[in-house]
Amino acid sequence: MFGGEQTEPTKFIRLLRITLKRNEAGLHCNSLGINHGQMVASMPLALILSMATGSALGMSAGGFASMVGAMLMLLPSINRLTRINSVIQKGIASAHSIFDLMEETPEDKGRDQPLAKASGHILMRDVHFSYQEEGRAILNGVSFEVEPGATIALVGPSGAGKSTIVSLLPRFYEASSGEVLLDGIPVSHYPLQDLRKQFSYVSQNIQLFSDTVANNVAYGALHDADPCEIRKALDMAQASDFIDQLPQKEHTMIGENGVLLSGGQRQRLAIARALLKNAPVLILDEATSALDSESEHEIQNALDNLMQNCTTIIIAHRLSTVKKVDQILVVDGGMIKECGTHETLIAQKGIYARLNALSFADGEIITVEN
Ligand SMILES: Nc1ncnc2c1ncn2[C@@H]1O[C@H](COP(=O)(O)OP(=O)(O)OP(=O)(O)O)[C@@H](O)[C@H]1O
Ligand SMILES: [Mg+2]
Repeated sequence: MFGGEQTEPTKFIRLLRITLKRNEAGLHCNSLGINHGQMVASMPLALILSMATGSALGMSAGGFASMVGAMLMLLPSINRLTRINSVIQKGIASAHSIFDLMEETPEDKGRDQPLAKASGHILMRDVHFSYQEEGRAILNGVSFEVEPGATIALVGPSGAGKSTIVSLLPRFYEASSGEVLLDGIPVSHYPLQDLRKQFSYVSQNIQLFSDTVANNVAYGALHDADPCEIRKALDMAQASDFIDQLPQKEHTMIGENGVLLSGGQRQRLAIARALLKNAPVLILDEATSALDSESEHEIQNALDNLMQNCTTIIIAHRLSTVKKVDQILVVDGGMIKECGTHETLIAQKGIYARLNALSFADGEIITVEN
């Protein structure tokens, strides 16, 4: 989504080279050590044997030493033969995973309808989808439309298919049937790179890298972003306060997948990354679920500004975050069961009204009014 396929191979190959060099050096030292050791150990042995036996056995000292030497050398070779099987098995297992990867079908790169900047009109028409061929249907005829610049929310129970719906837009998966259109053209008609440039996406499963805060925000195609822009995005995502407390500020390493940060801090970095990308369509999948009400409220203000210029799809369980959107779609069992504004849906007294009543009972309404 962030164009990492351009930069990741270079990083990956650099790391592979380092690993290869280290392995080679290790093997080199190991083999040299074994050979030299064996030679040093066998020379005094040969000397002592030749002195001790003289010509008593009717064979020359050299002949005797060779015979004993050969016998001694037989043992490690037999040992090595028994060990070679495990090396071969390891090789076979590695070959399996390498061939599996080589046999993966490459991602369809799309057709050649160029797309510089979309207006952000989204249309799904009778979309069906299942993750496996012949598998359980996850989406059962989803249809909806989002006007350019509008904000919609997808709400509904866990496992209803909300994340699946949005994952069809940047073509993480292909719909089994039905149409997914961006600006009136099927998404598969655009080159994949052009298509994915149109989305800023904060996914439910945030992916961070073992790198600095700044490099995580300016990730992939954004890697040459202006440091001031990065700082601005971090400010908007309410991340500046905690970053200023880190030992090297935005140049601090955050560990594998950001393990050195809290859940809410990781979410704020992901939001900053999406804000920096500033694409025509913003998708927020449970983007603020791990934040306290105050931070969420402040990020919401920053997002409100951003949302004025782009089409936004919000997925949220906390209904307080979706009250003001233009249209709320209630997803259940892979279908859109209800659709309307907060007020009309409450009046319908359906699933949304029930979910809303439950969040009221949980005390969420208190944070809303605040
Ligand atoms: N990669 C996948 N492979 C197979 N099945 C999947 C995959 N991802 C999701 N599913 C299934 O698809 C269904 C819908 O999942 P989805 O993630 O869209 O739900 P959701 O509405 O976003 O739920 P939540 O609110 O918990 O995030 C679930 O039943 C899930 O088990
Ligand atoms: Mg989800």
